[in-house]
Amino acid sequence: MTLSAEVYPILVTGALGRLGRALGPRLRADAPSPDAVRLTDVHDLDVTDPSAVAEAMGRLRPRTVFHLAAWTDVDGAEAHPAEARRLNADAAEVVARAAAAAGARVVHISTDFVFDGTKAGAYVEDDPVRPLGVYGRTKAEGEERVRAAAPDGHLIVRTAWLYGAGNRDFIDAVLERARAGRPMRVVTDQVGCPTWTEDLARALVAMVAAGCRGTLHACGAGEASRHAMAVAALRAAGFDAVPEEITTADLPPSAPRPARAALSCERLARETGFRFPPWQESVRRYVGQLSC
Ligand SMILES: NC(=O)c1ccc[n+]([C@@H]2O[C@H](COP(=O)([O-])OP(=O)(O)OC[C@H]3O[C@@H](n4cnc5c(N)ncnc54)[C@H](OP(=O)(O)O)[C@@H]3O)[C@@H](O)[C@H]2O)c1
Repeated sequence: MTLSAEVYPILVTGALGRLGRALGPRLRADAPSPDAVRLTDVHDLDVTDPSAVAEAMGRLRPRTVFHLAAWTDVDGAEAHPAEARRLNADAAEVVARAAAAAGARVVHISTDFVFDGTKAGAYVEDDPVRPLGVYGRTKAEGEERVRAAAPDGHLIVRTAWLYGAGNRDFIDAVLERARAGRPMRVVTDQVGCPTWTEDLARALVAMVAAGCRGTLHACGAGEASRHAMAVAALRAAGFDAVPEEITTADLPPSAPRPARAALSCERLARETGFRFPPWQESVRRYVGQLSC
């Protein structure tokens, strides 16, 4: 899918993160010129610095801002709530306000962790949020502050369980252990929607192309326990090992997480025609690429 000329210039924050490493190259590949997509990270645009954000928006005059920079260390957020809030809520507002002032649409990335994981079915966009931990609370506050700062020009995309090239993720950890021949214990009672960053990058392009606004869910199709995800990754890499099944109660204490926070992507499909592949297929393709 190609984007129309009026969405450029594009500014991306947090572009060296896991999602940015998939989205940045995708945006650049379709851009009319190299300057039309400005990829930034903390070293060249610190989103917690309001004057730096205002200066960048004034200089670059983007029409679309993908705001990916965030505090994503879920356990670390419990120990550093002020820092997590500064990045996930305060900076989200700063970016959204500056984008609105520049006449740009802001695409803000949020998370399934805004929900408590007690719903029997998949969460839809209008379900009330009820985060369990600091990370989820700061992300939920970030959503509210983006809505207030850019009432007409925001798109909030909730996603889940990202994996892909770049920062070490759950699949990397599982495969590293398997290669080292070390035993593995993985929980069966945390269920979510594994999402390949490459699939999400395609979905984000589809959302911007379709002019989506408001809040949308976007994640891999189907749901998996962490254990099922580990087994799928191991099989795709040619390992026969099956991790020992444990529950969250068997692990050392960590940040509270929603037990089962599947997200419904029906609104995304209706508005864009985009459907994520089944999560098993994407894990197979991603791990297949790693093995090449
Ligand atoms: N990872 C997941 O499973 C998951 C699930 C649901 C939703 N999300 C959301 O998806 C978005 C992208 O997540 P991700 O996994 O790509 O995160 P990530 O890998 O942690 O990337 C975030 C990026 O933001 C940068 N950053 C940190 N502080 C910054 C600052 N003050 N100014 C500018 N950049 C800064 C980080 O740089 P440093 O690395 O140098 O700190 C990093 O490159 C986030 O909003 C996250 O909440 C993630």
